[in-house]
Amino acid sequence: MKLFDVYPLYDVTPTRAKDVYVYDDKGIEYLDLYGGHAVISIGHGHDLYLEFLTNQMREIGFYSNAIKNPLQNKLANAIGEQSLCHDYQLFMCSSGAEANENALKLASFVTGKKRIIAFKNAFHGRTSAAVAATDNASINSPLNEQQKVTFLPFNDEKVLEIELKKGDVCAVIFEAIQGVGGLDEPSEGFVYAMDKLCKANNTCLIADEVQSGFGRTGTFFAYQKYNIKPDIITMAKGMGNGFPVGGILVKSTIKAKYGMLGTTFGGNHLACTASLAVLNVLKKQRLQEHAKNLGRYFTDNAKNIPSVKKIKGRGLMLGLEFDFEVGPLRKELIYNKHIFTGGSSNKNLLRILPPLTLQKKHFDLFFQRLEEALNAINA
Ligand SMILES: Cc1ncc(COP(=O)(O)O)c(C=O)c1O
Repeated sequence: MKLFDVYPLYDVTPTRAKDVYVYDDKGIEYLDLYGGHAVISIGHGHDLYLEFLTNQMREIGFYSNAIKNPLQNKLANAIGEQSLCHDYQLFMCSSGAEANENALKLASFVTGKKRIIAFKNAFHGRTSAAVAATDNASINSPLNEQQKVTFLPFNDEKVLEIELKKGDVCAVIFEAIQGVGGLDEPSEGFVYAMDKLCKANNTCLIADEVQSGFGRTGTFFAYQKYNIKPDIITMAKGMGNGFPVGGILVKSTIKAKYGMLGTTFGGNHLACTASLAVLNVLKKQRLQEHAKNLGRYFTDNAKNIPSVKKIKGRGLMLGLEFDFEVGPLRKELIYNKHIFTGGSSNKNLLRILPPLTLQKKHFDLFFQRLEEALNAINA
């Protein structure tokens, strides 16, 4: 049987990985500055992660959400402690799109309203309401177009106020740092305005932390650069270090009802254990603080590259903007310099989303090979 061919592939076949390195079927070592779309948070094959998961697998790997699973409570407490979001409740699922889908559905349940406000260049996933709230017409089918979504630019308080005052908006969903869209951020003033306007108009504010959460940007969640408390926070990617784990944090003022949300796989024993291992390593190895410092090191060094027009992001959610499309550069980096990097819907932006265990020496190597790659593509 053939695969349903939806992914344009690089001609590389990884067969093994350790920490910040991936090895292909020919034994070639690649430096992983992309973490498989920001998923690898504590490094490939971390010893503690392997130990936690194998031990759990021997006990019980899965049972449904019809029974008690104390690991979910343990994880909720650990997330509360490390994120400082003590006054939230945890609901678990298995992917980023599912987290946003549940967040949007919950916002609609709570407010009794239907319309969503999302932002230009937003990416929230590929399922029903999540894809409708994604600013990319080419991945929305006629079915998805049934959702009512209005896309606004960041930083225009007036137009946001006009839309919210119409009274039909259940949720404003935003990324504190856009991922797929190319690392743009709302201004501080606009973040506070969104928060205030949502409160004034009975609209839920949803922070999509699927890519930026779990310490990647130097704070536990990227929105925590600001003093706001979104109604719902969505998480996935780095939460499980490769095990499919997603979740939403729901403010304590929102009350649950049986059957309101649900899933078969979400929050199973292995998923909880993967995420507990991630939190354990984040804390022990102080990776959040490390991400913040290493991000500064990257930015300071990137300033010296003449062809870099803009340095974007913070912590280890970073981007380098050039005045040319980076497709050929990424190919040169992967095939000849053996470094994985990412692209975005901004074709001139190279995305850097490494495991949080990366060290300065790896960035030194990257800058050296980037210079060689830039020379090669310009030769
Ligand atoms: C900000 C953001 N939200 C949601 C998603 C969707 O996550 P998933 O691919 O796990 O469904 C992504 C994926 O890239 C993302 O970057």
